[in-house]
Amino acid sequence: MRREPACGIPCQIRFAPREVLLQCEPGAFVMSEPLFNRIAVIGLGLIGGSFAAAARKHGLAGSIVAGSRSARTLEQGIALGVVDEGSQDLAEAVKGADLVFVSTPVSAMGKVLSALKPGLSRTAIITDGGSVKGNVITAAHASLGEHYSRFVPGHPIAGKEKSGVGAADADLYRDHRVILTPTEATDPAATARVRAIWTAMGAEVLQMAPDYHDQVLAETSHLPHLLAFSLVDTLARQGDSTEIFRYAAGGFRDFTRIASSDPVMWHDIFRENKAALLQSLDLFSDGIARFRQAVSDDDSDALMGIMTRANTARAHFMAMNERTSYTRAHHSGDNTTMTDSTILQSKSANPTFVVTPGGRLTGRVRVPGDKSMSHRSIMLGSLAEGVTQVEGFLEGEDALATLQAFRDMGVVIEGPHNGQVTIHGVGLHGLKAPTKPLYMGNSGTSMRLLTGLLAGQAFDVELTGDASLSKRPMERVASPLREMGAQISTGNEGRPPVRIRGGQPLKGIHYDLPMASAQVKSAVLLGGLYAEGDTSVTEPAPTRDHTERMLGGFGYEVRREGATSALTGGGTLAACKLEVPADISSAAFFLVGASIAADSELTLPHVGINPTRTGVIDILKLMGADIRLENQRDAGGEPVADLVVKAAPLKGIEIPQELVPLAIDEFPAIFIAAACAEGDTVLRGAEELRVKESDRIQVMADGLAALGVDHEVFEDGIRISGGSFGGGEIQSHGDHRIAMSFAMASLRATGPITINDCANVATSFPGFAQLAAHAGLNLEVK
Ligand code: S3P
Repeated sequence: MRREPACGIPCQIRFAPREVLLQCEPGAFVMSEPLFNRIAVIGLGLIGGSFAAAARKHGLAGSIVAGSRSARTLEQGIALGVVDEGSQDLAEAVKGADLVFVSTPVSAMGKVLSALKPGLSRTAIITDGGSVKGNVITAAHASLGEHYSRFVPGHPIAGKEKSGVGAADADLYRDHRVILTPTEATDPAATARVRAIWTAMGAEVLQMAPDYHDQVLAETSHLPHLLAFSLVDTLARQGDSTEIFRYAAGGFRDFTRIASSDPVMWHDIFRENKAALLQSLDLFSDGIARFRQAVSDDDSDALMGIMTRANTARAHFMAMNERTSYTRAHHSGDNTTMTDSTILQSKSANPTFVVTPGGRLTGRVRVPGDKSMSHRSIMLGSLAEGVTQVEGFLEGEDALATLQAFRDMGVVIEGPHNGQVTIHGVGLHGLKAPTKPLYMGNSGTSMRLLTGLLAGQAFDVELTGDASLSKRPMERVASPLREMGAQISTGNEGRPPVRIRGGQPLKGIHYDLPMASAQVKSAVLLGGLYAEGDTSVTEPAPTRDHTERMLGGFGYEVRREGATSALTGGGTLAACKLEVPADISSAAFFLVGASIAADSELTLPHVGINPTRTGVIDILKLMGADIRLENQRDAGGEPVADLVVKAAPLKGIEIPQELVPLAIDEFPAIFIAAACAEGDTVLRGAEELRVKESDRIQVMADGLAALGVDHEVFEDGIRISGGSFGGGEIQSHGDHRIAMSFAMASLRATGPITINDCANVATSFPGFAQLAAHAGLNLEVK
């Protein structure tokens, strides 16, 4: 059976699929040399037909032949131009082929392989598209004889609700995963060639052991299909099923959509993957039994526990697998809603900000809740006795990483909904061992504070993070905690992952902090809650004291004298109500923006003005900024105020040393103010900036250079000469504060500024782009 052109005159089309494609689809990518001379596709349904169509589209085969028991299917495949020729005799079909792709039902694999074997050439590579690997490998081993070492088991994770060659799609595998499961007997060269063809089709190729594949697929694909079939069947059998189906709305329809998949195929899969499927079905039955028990016992805590964990688990685990932010994971294919809205209509997983020059900032801008306090509210609320209510919680990714970690340790946490979180505290000794490493995303505060808090638990735990966090120093917390008796190991050069061995008795120590770090201070104090006796910390310069204040709010006494804070282990925390004020670190971008843009006047309500955080206001005021604090009041032990800022001419200054730790997170924004000031601004003694989410001295210097701002870099700081500057392209290195600072620079730039790698803005400031645009920044998200 051959492919005939429309004119009826046979031609060499089967030897020249590349040229045909170039004519039909000028934009298609084609290989200059086909990867294989002749590909045989055995079983020409959706999977096989799409494989042939993709091979053809990308010029991966000199010719493509199909083998199928059905003459009709072969005719259809040829007529559609998916294959060049076909045969009902499978041994005939594979003759001369250097690649054979078998995409018949898995239960038929043994028979099919035996039937095609006599036609196989000595060097032919055989691969397949079956959804179950263990049984397929057993069948191949029994049927292929000397060809078995060139059998590369594979499984493309792609499909459609339609079946048959008529639904063949050359792009079916593009951006999809293909799992190869070679065995010890598989020739690595054969695996490499199969990997190459899938890659050329645009697929991402993964490799894993066959058993593992079958278990993973049982859990993620076979079990959900079984449940969908079962639910529909159960309801359909009921007497009044017509009624049920008439009123079946969204939930039922969504849940059972996959029950319309091909029953024959799934029948096969369930039987072929019996052992793994039964195992995951048992696991699920346990889960359902727990759920049933909670409903029957009216156990509200247990119910909320199951559902709040499930609610965020999908996005969380995707982020963890990809070692990226929730936002990116969310955009890479999962449609569960996370709370983030930063992306501002951008379809990109990692958006770019494009900001055009000019504009001014006006109106009232309520920035999100304080990040440091949000972390601590979850930590202390979880360890308290009773239910803690939090208002104003920052729904940014860093704080969400902390929240998820406590859920992973068995704490029931409701929300966040509009900044409200309800934490059902488990007491200081009520945390449970997590079943997996705790993923901290981009958040240094989560990892360092948790290291302290977990050092005294009864269980082992591992803390991991994204690419940026995985480069940050962790020995600064591990070392004093070891002095207290903790067993902690860090990774390469003292970086994450952090592994903590449980069950170690801790004893109180006095620790002189070698650097001004609130995270280290807090980690030691939190470890001290579990230590015998007194734990005290002396800091070389004042740093944020939210841990000390909030412990007080939970009724835990912290003694403070000068630069030293101390507590005695073994007490309890009592649940309370917390109000998290707006984050001064997020307000800082607007303080700078409104100061540098002529005619700006902005009010930032309800901002936390804890004296250990207000360095940015002091520094900007020294530079000549017009910032007023109105309506000062106390909000649950933390001072707050409305900040009113007006444009003002700025001048360069030498930043006073004592203000450096009090403005440690705000320097990227202050550097932009310096670039707009008259004269030089000099910062020294700020080496800590080098180990933040990025090396903030160097990354800011590179950005300033891109805009043409004169500056000089020091190991511990920078000199910036203010003046006018142009536009340019900025690499934020995934650092949220770098991205937001350069967005503000556009208010004074003479050309557009493009800022790359802005996904992590969501770690501290979800909604930044919208809010800034609303206030007057010409910002577009791409
Ligand atoms: C924080 C402390 C600071 C700060 C970070 C938050 C905290 O870090 O930069 O954003 O919440 O304790 P260091 O302790 O490393 O200075």
